[in-house]
Amino acid sequence: MQDGATGAVAVGDDGLTGFLLGGSKASGTWGENIWVEGAGQAVTDAETVRDLYAAAATRWAADGRDAHYVLVPAYDTALVDAWFRLGFGQQHVHAVREVPESSSSPAPAKADGVSVRTARREDIPVLAELDLVLPRHQGLSPVFSSGGIPTLQEATEDWEESFDDEGFAYLVAEHEGRVVGAAVGCVLEKSSSHTPLTRPDKAGFLGFAAVLPGARGLGAGRALGEAVLDWTRDEGFTSAATDWRATNLLSSRTWPRLGFRPTFLRLHRRLGH
Ligand SMILES: CC(C)(COP(=O)(O)OP(=O)(O)OC[C@H]1O[C@@H](n2cnc3c(N)ncnc32)[C@H](O)[C@@H]1OP(=O)(O)O)[C@@H](O)C(=O)NCCC(=O)NCCS
Repeated sequence: MQDGATGAVAVGDDGLTGFLLGGSKASGTWGENIWVEGAGQAVTDAETVRDLYAAAATRWAADGRDAHYVLVPAYDTALVDAWFRLGFGQQHVHAVREVPESSSSPAPAKADGVSVRTARREDIPVLAELDLVLPRHQGLSPVFSSGGIPTLQEATEDWEESFDDEGFAYLVAEHEGRVVGAAVGCVLEKSSSHTPLTRPDKAGFLGFAAVLPGARGLGAGRALGEAVLDWTRDEGFTSAATDWRATNLLSSRTWPRLGFRPTFLRLHRRLGH
């Protein structure tokens, strides 16, 4: 739980029937925020969360915190419904799948000539270009993310510095001999948005994937995702996790096709309108 978390408890005749705790993140991306992380709530009856939120949010709003985020287990439809009836909507999806048992057969590419290989240092210019693809896409409708977009130079410097880091799979997809996409695999603990309770044991992470706009729909994204899954298996992980913006029409349609199933939903509410 974050330092300085505040919240509420619910008490029935026989003792506690629930709690809700939220803390703030420093990042400006999230506005004046309150986050209820995966371990930040438990209720014996889903409806109780509405009373808990009413009590806790009084203070959060008085403190000027008007952007609220909550991680809710995806399987708990009654709890998700209770949050929806508090004015929250679905912003983000965390998901998991088992690792493939043996090397996936080559992806059934929709166009000839799609292949995946390990990235090389000379790929850095296109890797840097691909780093801008995701934040650019998510700045557009209907995601409208306010996340910053690095400059090409910043992205290049970042790649120069991190290229030899251990524990990462840096993969590129080629179409007709030209690099058109990239993906990154690593251990799930490297992701700050997958907090302990939401993390399966021994999980690998599909941490990044992007395909140049003109090369989408050719099978490069699937081939990259499958290559990361093969890497997670070869590294001894027993499951693979990823996450995506629910409003990102491309990733939210691609990753379920690769077998990822939702574990936690991040819901969001902005007060005042
Ligand atoms: C997400 C992304 C990497 C997918 O790459 P891609 O090369 O376009 O994807 P593919 O052509 O391999 O398609 C992957 C699967 O998703 C499905 N899919 C992709 N776009 C779809 C759409 N608009 N509607 C329905 N299904 C879609 C495909 O049918 C395919 O499934 P199948 O192989 O079972 O038929 C790419 O769209 C992208 O770079 N998007 C912008 C950045 C981004 O969102 N990155 C992911 C961050 S989480």
